[in-house]
Amino acid sequence: MRVPLIAANWKMHKTIPEARTCLVRLLELLPPEGGVEVAVFPSFTALAEARRLLTGTAIALGAQNVYPEPTGAYTGEVSVSQLVDLGVHYVLCGHSERRHVFGEDDAFVGRKVQAATAHELAPILCVGETLDERRAGGAWAVVERQLERGVAGLGDNSRGLVIAYEPVWAIGTGVAAQPADAHAMASQIRSWLRDRFGAKGDEIRVQYGGSVKPDNAREFLRLPDVDGALVGGASLDPDAFAAIAHAVLR
Ligand code: 13P
Repeated sequence: MRVPLIAANWKMHKTIPEARTCLVRLLELLPPEGGVEVAVFPSFTALAEARRLLTGTAIALGAQNVYPEPTGAYTGEVSVSQLVDLGVHYVLCGHSERRHVFGEDDAFVGRKVQAATAHELAPILCVGETLDERRAGGAWAVVERQLERGVAGLGDNSRGLVIAYEPVWAIGTGVAAQPADAHAMASQIRSWLRDRFGAKGDEIRVQYGGSVKPDNAREFLRLPDVDGALVGGASLDPDAFAAIAHAVLR
């Protein structure tokens, strides 16, 4: 019922020519047969070129961040309508690096999710605990709080919403979560979504992210409550990223 979403978060990597080379190769490599959705999240600077290359293809375009106000004196920020204008379909909200490097709190993340949803931009709400929080037995409490506040402004409108469970300690470390732990958390998120959104909660995809590579992707993607992956480092290499997308179909 839920088509897995394999997303490439390029973070602050790739110039426009590098983005072009990567996307051209990716278009050659991706599985043509359906059964998986692929999205690429370049830097803002490469969005226009990515749109040019991806229009009419099966790869969706995403942005790594957005500002919740519609317009105004917010130097350096980018609005929902500016992203929609660029053909962007998805936007990351509350990525761990935004929370921990840039100090974004749950309420601010919730405003982004609300602003995106109001304008048909699909928010990927990123949640996940730190290692200390996990060791203290508080992983679910953190994730639950991030979910609650992240969707607080949505009412019963969950259209387009995706959740990415990315444990902070697994991001960029080469140490992925144990598949059983990722599955336990994804299942807990799933039941929370059912409680919060009723039957619509079953339509919301829950991705896993954190050191997903071609050689471990299958372990996560075969789990019934994991509906795709949010990939950082391995998505910079089109061959590796395409191998992860192919792993859904194996
Ligand atoms: P890595 O795949 O590099 O661990 O990054 C995960 C991530 O932050 C994706 O958003």
